Amino acid sequence: MWKRKNYSMEAAGCWLLTVCLLLAVCLFSAATLSGCASATGGKRIVRISHGQSEEHPEHIGLLAFKNYVEERLGDRYEVQIYPNEILGAAQKAIELTQTGAIDFVVAGTANLETFDKTYEIFSMPYLFRSEEIYQNFMNNREYMETIYTSTDESGLEVLTWYNAGTRNFYAKKPIRTPEDLRGLKIRVQQSPASVNMVKTFGAAASPMGFGEVYTAIQQGVIDGAENNELALTNNKHGEVAKYFSYDMHQMVPDMLIGNLRFLQGLSAEEFAVFRDAAILSTQVEMEAWEQGVEAAKQTAARDMGVEFIQVDVTQFQDKVRGLQAEMVEKNPKIGAIYERAQSANQSANQSAPETDPEPHSSIAPAEGGKTS
Ligand code: GCU
Repeated sequence: MWKRKNYSMEAAGCWLLTVCLLLAVCLFSAATLSGCASATGGKRIVRISHGQSEEHPEHIGLLAFKNYVEERLGDRYEVQIYPNEILGAAQKAIELTQTGAIDFVVAGTANLETFDKTYEIFSMPYLFRSEEIYQNFMNNREYMETIYTSTDESGLEVLTWYNAGTRNFYAKKPIRTPEDLRGLKIRVQQSPASVNMVKTFGAAASPMGFGEVYTAIQQGVIDGAENNELALTNNKHGEVAKYFSYDMHQMVPDMLIGNLRFLQGLSAEEFAVFRDAAILSTQVEMEAWEQGVEAAKQTAARDMGVEFIQVDVTQFQDKVRGLQAEMVEKNPKIGAIYERAQSANQSANQSAPETDPEPHSSIAPAEGGKTS
């Protein structure tokens, strides 16, 4: 056994539910894909659910994961990737992973907040001063593993992270200052911290699954949403929301979350293969991400008529400035991580070059820092 903790499911009664769900997944697979063990020569099928399209950087990263595992353990494992929320939206897919009906899910940390409040840290507005600081923070695997294991008691453990860029408001009408948000109904992820953040910005928060957002904007149920640029193209939100404002309020990573019992059932050698496959998938995803964002910006502007608005980020930051201290005070699980992020911001501040950074890569001064 490779792990130090014993797995204990919160409710043993979940077993029956798990069997039912697994049966449902098998039936689904048999009907649409390659089926369960009998149809795959006795190999263990490893199912991964995610909510993005097959062109998305995360799908590309997961294909690298699949290939890496199958090249080394292909006699024992077959990895099947289920995109486009076909096994359910993030919350549902996490629950399927928790019960063991599927083995992995890719979901934003916002969706993990209800499983462990440690993950609220990534919903904190303006936690990192730049994308570079954020990415270095996330790539410190040794440190991140202390966060990855925080959901162990829920039967889930994270294997790696994927870059999902910065989150920004986009809507049917232009948002140029925080005042423009007043009275708007903005979709957020199913995350208590994000609900609170949007309220603090002065808008009404409407939590819903990612797959429902297009129709909700189209039908006027909401005025807009907040996300990265790929939502405009991969999810076609640019067809219904024509103004994307670079306020860069959050950097919320996606996580490759595994069923803990599955991970603990692997031999040390097998686990090393799955872990290395996960690390490789992050590298592949991050490269694809850079290209994906550039392509999405071009497509959204040129083919969809989306206007990208460069706002004064400081105004947006000021609006939610009190939230950082409030979140730390309310949630003892995030204090140490917050301090660490602040130190990373400050060290970068001290070594920052005099010249102006690219507007997209740098967000805001570190706490107490100067606005340019
Ligand atoms: C991004 C993120 C997803 C998340 C989605 C959302 O696309 O990568 O993990 O589900 O935003 O806003 O729901």
